[in-house]
Amino acid sequence: MILIKTIDELTNVLFRIRSSEKSIGFVPTMGALHQGHLSLLQRARKENEVVVCSIFVNPIQFNNAEDLAKYPRTLDRDVELIKSITDVIFAPEPEEVYPEIPTEKYDFGDLGKVMEGAYRPGHFNGVATIVNRLFNWIKPDKAYFGEKDYQQLAIIREMVRQKSLPVEIIGCPTVREESGLAVSSRNQRLTAEEKVIAANIYRILQEAKKNSNLPVSQIKQLVVSEIEKIKEFKLEYFEIADAKTLQPVDKVTEGNTIACIALYLGGVRLIDEILL
Ligand code: PAJ
Repeated sequence: MILIKTIDELTNVLFRIRSSEKSIGFVPTMGALHQGHLSLLQRARKENEVVVCSIFVNPIQFNNAEDLAKYPRTLDRDVELIKSITDVIFAPEPEEVYPEIPTEKYDFGDLGKVMEGAYRPGHFNGVATIVNRLFNWIKPDKAYFGEKDYQQLAIIREMVRQKSLPVEIIGCPTVREESGLAVSSRNQRLTAEEKVIAANIYRILQEAKKNSNLPVSQIKQLVVSEIEKIKEFKLEYFEIADAKTLQPVDKVTEGNTIACIALYLGGVRLIDEILL
């Protein structure tokens, strides 16, 4: 394993790797690594000769200064956790990635206007900016993203399509705790009691799935009323959408409809998804 901090060193090391015609699998992350990230790295390990992981808390994708400040940063621990399954860890400082204020503008059309795009203005522009830069430096054959951030995965696929980037995007299933709670770096900010409460999110999503034969308006009512029963939750959105375009639908088509939720528990914003 080699830990790299600069773009020069990264491009040099990767140039050598590519010259030897080794396949490169890439997992971009913001660190505070957990089982969800590990599942992506393990899949990359199986499918590629060389595995690259980036660890970078990308300031321009945060639209809330407190969220950025509180985002856990645990590089030493992260390196320990993944060094046996990762060949290259790229962990740059913000000035290395953004020597100037970035000005890239992306337009993902309707895909970027719903859910996270609606509630977190500029978020996906920041995600696309960093992922595109990382793809340019690393030039991976395959890159791995979690379905937990379902809309992000769709946005990255769209960016790759728009720019004809030579990388295959692989979506990986959401890793959950035994309670059903989707594993997330933000869970570290929940108390033990809040984690128990948070497990209701997936329970309620499963309720929605069990009721997928109902009209969408009724499924939504059911979910909203279940969420409202839990006074610690503050619902931001619950949407039922086409799994590809992410546009709202009024009827569930099995296997092609996704339910996505975002809510606050305490000061922590949690998101989750389930395929209906
Ligand atoms: P981060 O939140 O660190 O997540 C890195 C990758 O891990 C993402 O593809 C995310 O979907 C995946 N992931 C997180 N929790 C998961 C879980 N429980 N199961 C499966 N996969 C999971 O997403 C980002 O960072 C950033 O936006 C990034 C793409 C790195 C750009 O800055």
